[in-house]
Amino acid sequence: MEITFTLNGKKTICHIKVSTTLLELLRETLNLTGTKPGCHEGECGACTVLINGKSVNSCLYLALNTNGKEITTIEGLTKPNGGLDEVQESMIKNGAVQCGFCTSGMVLNIKALQLETMQNKKVPGSGIKNSPNRNEIKKWLEGNLCRCTGYVKIIDAAEEVFNKGK
Ligand code: FES
Ligand code: FES
Repeated sequence: MEITFTLNGKKTICHIKVSTTLLELLRETLNLTGTKPGCHEGECGACTVLINGKSVNSCLYLALNTNGKEITTIEGLTKPNGGLDEVQESMIKNGAVQCGFCTSGMVLNIKALQLETMQNKKVPGSGIKNSPNRNEIKKWLEGNLCRCTGYVKIIDAAEEVFNKGK
């Protein structure tokens, strides 16, 4: 079937099988390998992307459901001038990247929280309002696993992003 969506700001048309996951479409058809395949069952968060600004596990998301939607992958987070997003900058500054396998998913899930809180309203289902504190950030990132166990620095990086806005 044919689907049309906006991928990292560009209109994209693909022909897919009904069973194709978004993770497969991104990595195998569109060659966007920044989205990482981990558990393939919604447990690790390595495959996180943004759909209409909300984080989803692309391994569990059927590509056909992206029709008409906006997808952002880690490749699309870079600014038009080539500069890194502030979440990426903060990850580097705080030494929050080891092997990097979890990093795309962590960055995009932090970005999703930032987009939600920028709207200055309660994040649905999370109890988080406006600028999240350290415990709320930890809870938000519960679904993102880091096999290098570098959680402290990842949370430091996220906290710095949110503290900037205070
Ligand atoms: S690969 Fe999707 S959650 Fe692990
Ligand atoms: S940096 Fe290696 S999995 Fe997180």
